[in-house]
Amino acid sequence: MLGGQPIIILRENVERNRGLEAQRSNIAAAKAIASAVRTTLGPRGMDKMLVSGTGDVTITNDGATILTDIAVQHPGAKMVIEVARAQDEEVGDGTTTAVVLVGALMEQAEHLIVKKIHPTLIAQGYRMGMVKALEILDELSVTIGSHDRDNLLKIADTAMTGKSIESVKSKLDGIAVDAVMTIAMEKDGRIVADEDNILIKKQTGEAMDDAELVRGVVLDKTRLSEDMPRKVKNARVALIATPMEIKKTQVKAKIRISRSDQISAFSNQERETLKKYADAVIASGANVLICQKGIADAVGYYLAKGGVFAVEDVPEKDMKFAALALNAEIVNKPEDLTEKSLGNAELVEQPDDDEIIKISGCDNPKAVTILLRGSTEYLLDELERAVVDGTRVVMDAMEDGKILAGGGSVETELLMKLRDYAATVGGRVQLAIEAYATAFEVIPQTLAENSGFNPLDKLVDLKNAHTKGKKYAGLNVYNGKIIDMLKEGVVEPHRSKRQSIQSSAEAAILLIRVDDMMITEPMRGGMGAPPA
Ligand SMILES: Nc1ncnc2c1ncn2[C@@H]1O[C@H](COP(=O)(O)OP(=O)(O)OP(=O)(O)O)[C@@H](O)[C@H]1O
Ligand SMILES: [Mg+2]
Repeated sequence: MLGGQPIIILRENVERNRGLEAQRSNIAAAKAIASAVRTTLGPRGMDKMLVSGTGDVTITNDGATILTDIAVQHPGAKMVIEVARAQDEEVGDGTTTAVVLVGALMEQAEHLIVKKIHPTLIAQGYRMGMVKALEILDELSVTIGSHDRDNLLKIADTAMTGKSIESVKSKLDGIAVDAVMTIAMEKDGRIVADEDNILIKKQTGEAMDDAELVRGVVLDKTRLSEDMPRKVKNARVALIATPMEIKKTQVKAKIRISRSDQISAFSNQERETLKKYADAVIASGANVLICQKGIADAVGYYLAKGGVFAVEDVPEKDMKFAALALNAEIVNKPEDLTEKSLGNAELVEQPDDDEIIKISGCDNPKAVTILLRGSTEYLLDELERAVVDGTRVVMDAMEDGKILAGGGSVETELLMKLRDYAATVGGRVQLAIEAYATAFEVIPQTLAENSGFNPLDKLVDLKNAHTKGKKYAGLNVYNGKIIDMLKEGVVEPHRSKRQSIQSSAEAAILLIRVDDMMITEPMRGGMGAPPA
């Protein structure tokens, strides 16, 4: 105040929440987001049905999908959703866990604020807790070899449980593992696997059980002409980037040439040029041609005569993928084709009644395709999300070579060890570290609750087992028993837990430290209202 006049520094339409009110509003928002997804956690979690403004329906159990699809207004809620997005990007799994943890951390912070513990101190305790938690996590992790197929299968299996695909899980986990093991490469002594080198294709109308791993590529195309073979065994595939036609040809592009006399519709010179294109392909030894641009009918005619299977107008993305799968080189002109530029595939075919071309059995492919089948789009989409989660966790585990026991075992070990650690710190910050430790209870408790067991009883049972030194003890969600999760094969990549611990703590710390929210656009429902 200057001379009794208030100084106004904010524009008129700025909504402002301060101090406790700002903190409460962020806490309520984080808790609301967490409670929106917590019922989906674990193998026995429920699904959500999302309906978009245009009426599109998605049925899913996938945390990241749920959270990116629901529209939220609240800035605090948006930050929590960002945690899920980052988890999805970095790890591909564990999004629900990360968000449920933020909710629990904010709930614990609320109790501390009521006890008049300053937010800065809470933030400090949470940060110390997080650093310690990551250390404990390292100690708990089990090292696996990058080609340990058994353990990789278990990792895929754990990530794919509970995504309404139970009946085909044992098939899909094999597909996910084999896909990743095929495309993984060694670079500077490390294993790297690029998710872009696994393509997922979906086909409606067939049984889920017909899913398959194609060591090659599937194109949404049909062959150029019926006169070409439907199937080519021991294929030698040529990839060409430019059009195989003559510009400004006097002949209409769409004349189908099936008899030799029709070919005379072209001028001699044109005919020569077009025939040369086809001859160059045949001379290279190729019996399959994939062209990024158009192929003139006359060229198609000569190719068919030479027994070549050809496809035109293949998108650049698919061309590049095919080159990786086939270990082939994309050339500019047919004359540039050499023995080396061709790729080998056991089979190239356009299956009966199918509008696709399948190139399979490639030699040592650097890219593969997972072909998913199912009765409805909804099912296929959820199947795809499960397979993406499955392949991503296998990549994480292969790259890092470190796994952890699931079923709430890691969280139980963490919460107990963190409490011991808090006791060694002392002072008021000890309370914040204890609160941080308590937040981890939410994972085993939610797993129990979602499976129909009493969350408090199961937590006590788990703590008892861990006190006795059973550090891999977790909850069997099907019968409620406390069992060794490593032996049971319920394992997850170390990266998933590390990322969820780190990002949940960082988001909570940021939110707790906010004591002033200034929002320039008036919001629907106001800031105090938690998101729907
Ligand atoms: N067979 C099992 N028995 C006990 N717990 C399991 C089993 N399979 C998975 N889990 C546990 O379920 C939890 C993962 O559940 P879920 O896959 O629903 O969530 P998320 O991985 O956090 O998120 P999202 O998969 O949606 O990204 C982990 O704590 C995992 O250990
Ligand atoms: Mg999961």
